[in-house]
Amino acid sequence: MTTSPTTLTLAALDSRLSVPTRQLAAPGPDHDTLLRILRSAVRVPDHGKRVPFRFLRIAGDDRKALADATIARLLQRESRPAEGAIEKLRNRLTLPPLTIAVIARLGEDEKIPVSERQATASCVCLLLLQAAQAEGFGAQWLTGWPAYDRPLLERTLGLAPDEQLAGTIAMGTPQVEVPDRERPDPASLLTDWSPA
Ligand SMILES: Cc1cc2nc3c(=O)[nH]c(=O)nc-3n(C[C@H](O)[C@H](O)[C@H](O)COP(=O)(O)O)c2cc1C
Repeated sequence: MTTSPTTLTLAALDSRLSVPTRQLAAPGPDHDTLLRILRSAVRVPDHGKRVPFRFLRIAGDDRKALADATIARLLQRESRPAEGAIEKLRNRLTLPPLTIAVIARLGEDEKIPVSERQATASCVCLLLLQAAQAEGFGAQWLTGWPAYDRPLLERTLGLAPDEQLAGTIAMGTPQVEVPDRERPDPASLLTDWSPA
């Protein structure tokens, strides 16, 4: 018996879960596989077809350089960071073989509100997670303070003033089987609207 495309699609959606970044190791997606993943990720709803996003690949030796720069910025922000904070940052950037930063492009636009373009960039992040998992990799969407630190974003990552970081998507081979977490009960979230 063949499995219907609907069943396969819903199974992929229903099995998505994040693999913590510290549990992601090499190999990650190679160049062609990454392009295949990005091809799915760019199929987002996009009001006005603005394509309000772009990607930065962080891989290889550059991961350590970015970790060093991020740690240096942390030490500028906080003279005594919390215990373990430096190691956590370093692990987050150097353990996964590949991280894709999803950058939201939010310049002047007469018609499409910034929030809608941010929503499109966030949809890209979700599709990256789905597509990476479909290719057999684990992935996790992270932000944290580095995603909002303008000096780090502009001087180190090269974002323009009208760009934001929607998130970083770490990808790699899961080192553990991640147990699912409890998911919301959709029925409890659903009400019917009726006229007042
Ligand atoms: C916009 C956004 C930012 C996130 N940033 C972080 C983060 O910085 N650190 C973290 O541990 N989890 C972060 N998460 C949560 C994880 O990506 C993930 O959703 C969570 O571990 C739950 O796993 P699940 O995707 O299997 O539900 C973020 C999620 C979103 C949507």
